[in-house]
Amino acid sequence: TRGLHPDFMAKEIEQQPEVVADFMATWGPSIGRKLWSPFGLAMPRHLTIVGCGTSLHAGRAVAQVAARLGGIPFTSIEASEVAATTTVPGSLAVVLSQSGETADVLRAVDALHGRSHPILALTNNPHSALARRAQAVMICRAGPEIGVAATKTFTAQVVGGTAVVLSMLAAGGVLDRSDIHRLVTQLESVADLMAYAIGAARGSVPDLVPALVDSPGFVFLGRGPGRVFADEGALKLKELTYRWAESHAAGELKHGPLALIEHGTPVIVVDDGSDRLAATIEEVRARGARVLSIGPEQATIPARTSTNAHGLARGVDWLGPLESVVGLQVLARELAVALGRDVDKPRNLAKSVTVE
Ligand code: M6R
Repeated sequence: TRGLHPDFMAKEIEQQPEVVADFMATWGPSIGRKLWSPFGLAMPRHLTIVGCGTSLHAGRAVAQVAARLGGIPFTSIEASEVAATTTVPGSLAVVLSQSGETADVLRAVDALHGRSHPILALTNNPHSALARRAQAVMICRAGPEIGVAATKTFTAQVVGGTAVVLSMLAAGGVLDRSDIHRLVTQLESVADLMAYAIGAARGSVPDLVPALVDSPGFVFLGRGPGRVFADEGALKLKELTYRWAESHAAGELKHGPLALIEHGTPVIVVDDGSDRLAATIEEVRARGARVLSIGPEQATIPARTSTNAHGLARGVDWLGPLESVVGLQVLARELAVALGRDVDKPRNLAKSVTVE
């Protein structure tokens, strides 16, 4: 049941700190060789990340951790495009699907099997077709997610996938015991970071909604580790509000999307405090954009250029700004509620897409 929450999505957003805490209480002590060995997989030299929608975003966030900490290169592919895309021979396919029943994903798994890729699945459903078809399975332990918009399963997939990556790097000798101890402690802190982010979003987002509710469209920007969270924010917003939302790498703006910016266009920035992002923000502000930043309080951009800074605690650098997703989820939901949308059942969408 949704208890005292107005809808399932509200409940599932709020559950994110406990989902992280539960996962870490269960798997935290095993992160390292103990978690990796039962998979029976060799340390990969390349990762192929496969999923759809929010699950693909979670996969990209996880792959970036492997690239950052272990120098492991990756390709990310929409499940529906796997058949048509050349893959790297021997690459470990990391396939993400909260339901484990998405038709595009299962078809991709067949294609990857056909090319002899080992498959590691990250799913929230241990009884799913994906879990049955993969060589190795990590269950994300998010509990049932009823809202069509994926929220807590995204966070669970990022944390679960990160646990797998740390274990892989430990088994491969890239990380030693003391590295693992330090990184696991930081990963545990994500539960508190998410709780803090929920409080920050509750405090700041409702006041922003009246000025945004009539906007026909939204631009999301990020760079580096923040980019995938901007993509996720835009997906949530369009799915729930039925308004268009574009997400771009901040540096790409001047190569086309800048033409969209006019007086009042909301530009939502996953802020990394860098000078390069600050320069992009100045550029859109000069054209009248309404800039909303999501990032740490210490970041220069909210203090300098945005009146509606959404201050977050400083996060875990190597993980990327996972906690920024909370503000983006809350923003999408609050706007959808203000527009009278059914946030748990957006039009045209299904929780589990079992047709190709
Ligand atoms: O069950 P899956 O994780 O395979 O679902 C994939 C997508 O359909 C899903 O993430 C979709 O993008 C969400 N509704 C987004 O909130």
